[in-house]
Amino acid sequence: MATRPIRLLGDPVLRTPAAEVTSFDKELRTLVKDLADTMIEAPGVGLAAPQLGVGLRVFVYDVDDVLGHLVNPVLHFPTDEEQDGPEGCLSLPDLTFDCIRKQDVVAHGQNVYGDPVTVSGSDLLARCIQHETDHLDGVLFIDRLDAETKKAAMAAIRDAEWAQPPVVKVSPHPLFGRAR
Ligand code: NI
Repeated sequence: MATRPIRLLGDPVLRTPAAEVTSFDKELRTLVKDLADTMIEAPGVGLAAPQLGVGLRVFVYDVDDVLGHLVNPVLHFPTDEEQDGPEGCLSLPDLTFDCIRKQDVVAHGQNVYGDPVTVSGSDLLARCIQHETDHLDGVLFIDRLDAETKKAAMAAIRDAEWAQPPVVKVSPHPLFGRAR
């Protein structure tokens, strides 16, 4: 069992689009195992590679007692039906906000060996797949909240004990003889 630290909001890796996986090697298998171990220990229902600081398009999920992973996912939405419900993220600990997602999703991708796989899901699995695929594009669920909910989320994030203060770069000495 090998867990790795989960990156928190404010870490630039969470805002960086991840790269397509092209090497289906031992390193990828170790990554998927570590993703699963870290997700289960957290515990959570999904975890994407950027959350462990790895910029590759792979995530794991654990929904309805099914533990799975998906590499290079491409999502399709068979219906326009939506679901509204609570959503959270291990990179924003202890916060949940209602987020609208598509009700049904079909995800095409590959498994850890490079074989093509399709995962179809509704409800929580569909929500999880959309959330984790967003992570691979540098998108967080707080980006998808309606304006009012987002305002509440930002206030809660500001007050969260895990929140990292924003980095402010200050010039160490006056520039051109003037204080700035
Ligand atoms: Ni997340």
